[in-house]
Amino acid sequence: MDLGAMLAGKRVLVTGASSGLGENFARLAAGCGAKVVIAARRKARLDALADELGRLGSPQVTVVEMDVASEASIADAFAAIDASGDLLDVVVNNAGIGTAGEALTVSTKDFDAVMTTNVRGAFLVALRAARRWKEAGRGGSIVNIASIQGERVKHRVTPYSISKAAVVHMTKSLALEWAEHGIRVNAIEPGYIGTEMTDGMWETEQGKALIQRIPMRRLGKPEELNGLLLLMATDAGAWMTGACVPIDGGHLCSTL
Ligand SMILES: NC(=O)c1ccc[n+]([C@@H]2O[C@H](COP(=O)([O-])OP(=O)(O)OC[C@H]3O[C@@H](n4cnc5c(N)ncnc54)[C@H](OP(=O)(O)O)[C@@H]3O)[C@@H](O)[C@H]2O)c1
Repeated sequence: MDLGAMLAGKRVLVTGASSGLGENFARLAAGCGAKVVIAARRKARLDALADELGRLGSPQVTVVEMDVASEASIADAFAAIDASGDLLDVVVNNAGIGTAGEALTVSTKDFDAVMTTNVRGAFLVALRAARRWKEAGRGGSIVNIASIQGERVKHRVTPYSISKAAVVHMTKSLALEWAEHGIRVNAIEPGYIGTEMTDGMWETEQGKALIQRIPMRRLGKPEELNGLLLLMATDAGAWMTGACVPIDGGHLCSTL
């Protein structure tokens, strides 16, 4: 079964496509021959990525500015997506931010920012896509990018962990509600992967110690999520919904 070929011709929205995992998913989808819509706030980065993908032979890349923390921006982005092509087939709800610091010192502003981006943003994007699919009488696939921190907690990232646990529960709850409409909702729970979000962390003593607690003793690479993304996104996973799957070098089953 060629999972990449199953994505060819599908229209795929990737949020947070301007860097890290989202950029990787956009490259994957474009390489499979999908019509990719790349969304984020940093438009210059999206334009550069679209240019590069075009040069590599993927002319069907649409750039859309979208701030998932703003409902108006999400509405504008979906209007632009509607105007620029067919209905979406797949939504990769990847945009996210982190927080650092002890719970006792976290500001309300930072707490709100992580919830508004990681939870409300993913929810509103999922809703916009699902309403269109329901109106059209057809299904679609949503892949949420959660985290192993949606399953287990870690020191000094409480708002982020809360937000990712919410994404895990959102995935299951929406899968339950939307199964009757043929809309599948699944989540990838990545372990630690070197991206801008975690930049600077891996050279510190704390970062090195963290890597030693991963059973495979290394960080993941963005492309190591690709097989799971394709399974969830395509009909290869046609009977898969509400699944939240860790992919983490064994980190979640590390010894207590
Ligand atoms: N790296 C890891 O170890 C790891 C592990 C588990 C889960 N994750 C999750 O994977 C996802 C991607 O993270 P990453 O590691 O690739 O980090 P990253 O390189 O910092 O990328 C984050 C992406 O989210 C976008 N974003 C942030 N706020 C946004 C907003 N308000 N509206 C629209 N886009 C927004 C950013 O684009 P703009 O700034 O251009 O808007 C950027 O493209 C996140 O949900 C993260 O929680 C990462």
